[in-house]
Amino acid sequence: MRKHIYALGGAGLLLSVSMSAMPAQEMTGELPDPPEFSAQSEPNFVSISDILEYKALPEYNEPDWVTSKYVDAGALPPVAERLPKEPLVYKAANMPDGIGVYGDTMRHVIGGRPEGWNYIGGQSQGWGGIDIGLSECLTRTGPLFMVKADELEPMPNLAKSWEWSEDGKELTMHLIEGAKWSDGDPFDSEDVMFYWEDNVQDPNVSAVPSGTGTPERFGTGTKLEAIDAYTIKWTFEESFPTQYLYAMAYDSFCPGPSHILKPEHPKYSDNSYEQYKNAFPPEYLNIPVMGAWVPVEYRPDDIIVMRRNPYYWKVDEQGNQLPYLNEMHYRLSTWADRDVQAVAGSGDFSNLEQAESYVEALRRSADDSAPARLQFGARTIGYALRMNMSGNGWGEPDAREQAVRELNRNLDFRKAVTMAVDRQRLGESLVRGPFTAIYPGGLYAGTTYYDKDSTVYYPYNMDAANELLDGLGLMDTDGNGVRNFPADTAGGADVEITLLANTDYATDTNLAEGVIAMMEPLGLRVIANFQTGTARDDMAQSGQFDWTVERQGSEMVAVVQNTTMLAPTGPRTHPFHKAGSDGTLDLLPFEQELTDIVNAFISTSDNAERAELMKQYQQIFTENVYSVGLTQYPGALIINKRFANIPAGAPIFMFNWAEDNIIRERVYVPEDQQGDYELHPETLPGAPGSDGPA
Ligand code: GLA
Repeated sequence: MRKHIYALGGAGLLLSVSMSAMPAQEMTGELPDPPEFSAQSEPNFVSISDILEYKALPEYNEPDWVTSKYVDAGALPPVAERLPKEPLVYKAANMPDGIGVYGDTMRHVIGGRPEGWNYIGGQSQGWGGIDIGLSECLTRTGPLFMVKADELEPMPNLAKSWEWSEDGKELTMHLIEGAKWSDGDPFDSEDVMFYWEDNVQDPNVSAVPSGTGTPERFGTGTKLEAIDAYTIKWTFEESFPTQYLYAMAYDSFCPGPSHILKPEHPKYSDNSYEQYKNAFPPEYLNIPVMGAWVPVEYRPDDIIVMRRNPYYWKVDEQGNQLPYLNEMHYRLSTWADRDVQAVAGSGDFSNLEQAESYVEALRRSADDSAPARLQFGARTIGYALRMNMSGNGWGEPDAREQAVRELNRNLDFRKAVTMAVDRQRLGESLVRGPFTAIYPGGLYAGTTYYDKDSTVYYPYNMDAANELLDGLGLMDTDGNGVRNFPADTAGGADVEITLLANTDYATDTNLAEGVIAMMEPLGLRVIANFQTGTARDDMAQSGQFDWTVERQGSEMVAVVQNTTMLAPTGPRTHPFHKAGSDGTLDLLPFEQELTDIVNAFISTSDNAERAELMKQYQQIFTENVYSVGLTQYPGALIINKRFANIPAGAPIFMFNWAEDNIIRERVYVPEDQQGDYELHPETLPGAPGSDGPA
């Protein structure tokens, strides 16, 4: 590292030194345009009303074996009685290959492991599309990638329609009437209210595995009440906060089966909160769901098998009850294996997102005889180095950690770190070619609200970075190559920072290792804290980290999805700045500005105003290095060629993941291409908790 003969201390002195040595404007530089790389297919843009409607049809159908083995035997009511009054009907004209046929299986491979089935109580099912398939939410956003931009609003789902009061403060929603959970129990406002009152509003429950089921996600002071079994009413402090319709989609408003979960909740039982959360371990089968398939078999480190939900409430225009696919597999393996198996044809689906395997996957898929299609989309996969911005106790830091937090909260420190990252090299270390782009942080290039002119970029510049840290009084006083805190901070110890990353993904740890190496010449000792997915997520959500390298959420892509996560808009909304032990947020002035901008964005639906607000957001975010952007690249959807009804241009990640975007319940396999993959043919889910299909 660069050494100076004088040691500096004190912010005032630092400011004058860093200004004379390196004027602020000289630290910023021209942001190179991302290399040319076009998405391989474009959506066919439509209106929501082209995709679906709710209506009764003259007759309904189901697979023959369901009628003969179950209905005729008296084990199940006829299909018409199992469906709601007006099912959700997918229109044939919007189905890329039209009305489908029943049969076959989609074989997923995932890298996560299920904690259990209490999704709303905070348990993860291992990701990779399991929870997306089990949980149905009030609204739906994944398929919006194909909706015309000027008609963008969440799709109806469990809420089939809604209307606003004149002053825009009340939103009345009509739930689908007569729909049933997969065990036949009615779905109604009791399920909705149990989620809201006893999970979202209960501070002892960290609702949904991502922790996003917080009250403030729906606006400060927002109230929800049940008017009757199929009507609910929201009351907001703001007028027309249409934005919250997005929060009512996956993953923050997908009610669970209250008839099963409620008796285990501490309010209605002797259980502790821990017992409630863990009341439905992976071995518990046939958990009632509103989704198209129900878990019927679980073998640890091997597989989760799901069978069709006989009460599923969606149909095609000919009245065929969905889903078309009878079974779903989730092989419990690794995320890298998901790519390998999808390309080889032993798995059916992958979101190709770990850039390290792109070249090989592309090479193997290029052959006409390859079993799977591989289609690249836009650059919506992005990674950033995020610093813990709480100075008031989130995650209960010790003295060293607190000293790091103070650095994290210092702009010169964040600038030094960002300038020490050689993004070109970092991107190339993952994959060569036109894939990765330099990502300075903030909204992604190529997305709707991105504005290059509002993006401040601090290019790689080690000299300037070192000068900034010198200026902060962080000198290597003991000559061991690592800068020390000033004598009055953390005992003048070496500056050591831990970096949290997820070992389930090679890309996460590769990027984290790259960052660690790049901090060395800056004189910062960064120590890997690499954890498996669930442990990492728990630590990140509870503030137990100095720094973390992570793949970012949909707010950075879509803006309208997860909007409240763009800034610390509430005590528990933001990924790297949550409230301290006293429940308050110690926002820096620029964070307050970002929060105001995001709140203003939420309370207007004027497109021009929104675009302007996001320019300001991007400017303030990137100028202040709110997070250190690392790299941004496209993902590819890999899907076996036998599947029909895969929409053109389906991105692996936009408003949601591809598992939602492709609308799996209307995906099918033409008869002559069906494989022999069903493990439990001609069976349906059994009684909740029982071990296996009926
Ligand atoms: C994981 C995977 C993604 C996607 C999501 C779905 O995060 O890495 O590709 O499958 O699960 O939740």
